[in-house]
Amino acid sequence: MSDKKTISGFSKLSKRGKIKWIVENFFKEPEHVMRELMSYWHHDDEQQKLLDGFSENTISNFPMPYGVAPNFLINGKTYAVPMVIEESSVVAAASSAAKYWLARGGFKTEILGTKKVGQVHFSWGGKTQKLESVFEDLKTQLRAEAADITNNMEKRGGGILDITLVDFTKEEKDYYQLKVTFETCDSMGANFINSVLEQFAKTLDKFIAAHPIFDEDERDVHIIMSILSNYTPECLVRAHVECKVEDLGTFAGGFDGTALAEKFRKAVRIAHIDPHRATTHNKGLFNGIDAVVLATANDFRAIEACGHTYAARSGQYRSLSNCTVEHGIFRFWMDIPLALGTVGGLTKLHPIAKRSLELLGHPSAKELMQIIAAVGLAQNFAAVRSLVTTGIQQGHMKMHLLNILNHFKATERETENAQEYFDGKIVSFTGVREYLEKNRENVQI
Ligand code: MEV
Repeated sequence: MSDKKTISGFSKLSKRGKIKWIVENFFKEPEHVMRELMSYWHHDDEQQKLLDGFSENTISNFPMPYGVAPNFLINGKTYAVPMVIEESSVVAAASSAAKYWLARGGFKTEILGTKKVGQVHFSWGGKTQKLESVFEDLKTQLRAEAADITNNMEKRGGGILDITLVDFTKEEKDYYQLKVTFETCDSMGANFINSVLEQFAKTLDKFIAAHPIFDEDERDVHIIMSILSNYTPECLVRAHVECKVEDLGTFAGGFDGTALAEKFRKAVRIAHIDPHRATTHNKGLFNGIDAVVLATANDFRAIEACGHTYAARSGQYRSLSNCTVEHGIFRFWMDIPLALGTVGGLTKLHPIAKRSLELLGHPSAKELMQIIAAVGLAQNFAAVRSLVTTGIQQGHMKMHLLNILNHFKATERETENAQEYFDGKIVSFTGVREYLEKNRENVQI
């Protein structure tokens, strides 16, 4: 059966060849689309080659807005934080929360741990006690045979922290794992950890095959897989803000500090009780976290996966942040696992990520964890503050209107008039189009 929408050897086509095949088979206006895709190629061939090298089958670049949220005061130091995000209002909200807390002592953060985790999953039909009795020897051999990989990391102050045997045979016949913890210093450490684990798997196999304690029928180990775990609950950072309730100020909707504090506390509490609200609450927090993680070319999928598992650590998915109002003090904080790097990966290869790190003053991984936790908390603060006062649509509508006006290529004057007209009104695509149609003479939209 032939289907013109499938192809073999796509990866071997030149970049132009790939675009050509794509536009001819999937688009109504192939030439126009081809020109458009190519218009996003970097004007400098070397830079484009660098970007292409990050992935496979690339045909163009996908632009995303690169914004900055200034005025973040974290542990007494100020930062202008780079954020890559396509959702309007996020950078504005982070900036607004940063400025709000700048006047109230800023964000305080602390590192609670930097441990990373990896696992070798294996099947083995031998006697657990025998393996346990020679486990210290196995550990020595595992470390020795991975020394070539760990030497450099050890020189930087990191390496393998601990190796334990986990017996899962009650859940799954013959299933064990080597659970390994690591310190990877300023790198996220994925490559390092995976290389060590793959070496561990080889050593484990060899050790069991050769050790005299094991009988003939116990010598076969089946390695299932060796891979880091993205769940790093001990690579943890705490961020908090606090002030006297009376210093919270006054808010839109006529709220004073006391009313705001209580409503805010309740909103956070709801996100602890109800997973539906918790998911949205945490999504808001990740709006900020992901944006900085992306701007510094860190792995946002890993950060999200880990954060959500952590949010469910009690057995129910809950808010990552917490709020108390006690003895006249409003306190808002969160603990969040963030496995980040400031060396390795794309952090220094991606030209803009490199600038992001420069903008942040070349932070260590620990410092970056603290900056990103503070941004997450700020983002969450801004979202909940809006929700319990004006509602978020007020801010969103303004950005939504601007996006639609941009789409219709509104002039500066039309934009100003439309902003005045739509102030306090619901903004919709059709509504703006009709407004422009009425107010733009002789222009077809
Ligand atoms: C929107 O991207 C994020 C919010 O929904 C977060 C929240 O509800 O807390 C505003």
